[in-house]
Amino acid sequence: MFLLAKLEKGDRAFCFTSGMAALTAVTHLVERGQEIVVGEDIYGGSDRLLSKVTPKTGIVVKWVDTSDLHEVASAIGPRTKLMWLESPASPRQQISDIRKIAKMARAYGALVLVKNSIITAVGTWNRHCDALSDKIYSWT
Ligand SMILES: Cc1ncc(COP(=O)(O)O)c(C=O)c1O
Repeated sequence: MFLLAKLEKGDRAFCFTSGMAALTAVTHLVERGQEIVVGEDIYGGSDRLLSKVTPKTGIVVKWVDTSDLHEVASAIGPRTKLMWLESPASPRQQISDIRKIAKMARAYGALVLVKNSIITAVGTWNRHCDALSDKIYSWT
């Protein structure tokens, strides 16, 4: 785990047996009354987790078009604990400005989760996300 964290320039790394297990664990970082702002173009399993399971725990889930920075800016606020996006997204391959969205979320102290299952992490991903002080993502 230490080596994985080091490769990713992180403090810690956690491994899960599936992508959905990792994503479900991340939702447990959010408490009742806090908000998750999430992109509309996301993997079906994540969509079901955030539309059918997570709201039952009292967490507010706000869906936005993450390719529209104005829409993202108006959704993020003091209650936002987690910004969740995919870029390139699955299934529609929507591209979002990870760096700008992360900056907006970090201004409120929110965690930033970017799910990237299409392009390789090494090089491309790290180059975009080096500016983040937290990053949560999975390889499956
Ligand atoms: C974008 C995305 N998120 C999450 C998952 C879920 O991963 P797993 O099947 O390992 O639970 C997948 C699987 O295809 C995926 O494509």
